[in-house]
Amino acid sequence: MKAKKSETYIFDYEQEFERLERQAGFTAYQLSEELTGFEVESGEVFLDAGCGSGLAARHVAKIQPSAIVEGCDFSAIRVKQAQNRASKERINLRFFESDLQNIQSEDNRYDKIFCRYVFWTFTKFDKLMSEFMRVLKPGGTLLVVDFDGYFTNLDHQNSWLLEAMDEFRVKSKTRIDAFVGRKIPRLFHNAKFEKIDWKVRAVPFQGKDLIDELGMIEERFGFMIPMLVDFFGTEKKAREFASAVCKEIATPGNSLFYNKFIVKGTKPKS
Ligand SMILES: C[S@@+](CC[C@H](N)C(=O)[O-])C[C@H]1O[C@@H](n2cnc3c(N)ncnc32)[C@H](O)[C@@H]1O
Repeated sequence: MKAKKSETYIFDYEQEFERLERQAGFTAYQLSEELTGFEVESGEVFLDAGCGSGLAARHVAKIQPSAIVEGCDFSAIRVKQAQNRASKERINLRFFESDLQNIQSEDNRYDKIFCRYVFWTFTKFDKLMSEFMRVLKPGGTLLVVDFDGYFTNLDHQNSWLLEAMDEFRVKSKTRIDAFVGRKIPRLFHNAKFEKIDWKVRAVPFQGKDLIDELGMIEERFGFMIPMLVDFFGTEKKAREFASAVCKEIATPGNSLFYNKFIVKGTKPKS
């Protein structure tokens, strides 16, 4: 069955595969930390929801080869690249194209669902959370990881950028949510998950971590210009914003940190 796309994703381009793979090697994005306490047991059915390059699905399939591991994403390019990489590594996985607001899986299929760095791309969550609830088995667990303050948490003294950042926050509200992390526990509560448990950890960027993160942000801004033009009205201002953010990130004395939320909840047994 072909998935129906609800909207497009701003980073749906070829090179995003390599960026996601590279990112997972950086200190701030360690999978092993995120998955602590979420071990997949033998025979369990696992979904990497919004799988991107499929790195989390591959990680789980390597650790637990007797689990049934699947990954889905609404990007046809990502699904193809994820499948190719898994086949190259001879890992037995199934990737499929699907909008998370209409998951192409039967009810009560999964023991565990992992959704990593996807929530920031959503501004409405009802359908997303009800789909997770539908496809989880009773007693199954959902784990969501996302940042709060992605690049917007930067402390600096550039008054032009302070104003532009406020404008960015207001204008971007209908497309992305840089402060989604703090909202995730409530989304679990409203969707009637049980045994909700959440952690939040400050992720600081210094030294090599700062250089790595700045490289990622610069690369992403390269593809975000059309969206920034929508927010700021002109390409000139969009480019000035992107370059001011990068300049201030690199300025000694300024601090960049995000808060990483790791939120878990269980579907009621009845
Ligand atoms: C930042 S990437 C994260 C990818 C992967 N989870 C990781 O941690 O590397 C976000 C992914 O979510 C996918 N995505 C966004 N909205 C989606 C939706 N409504 N349905 C399915 N996938 C979606 C994008 O295509 C993209 O691959």
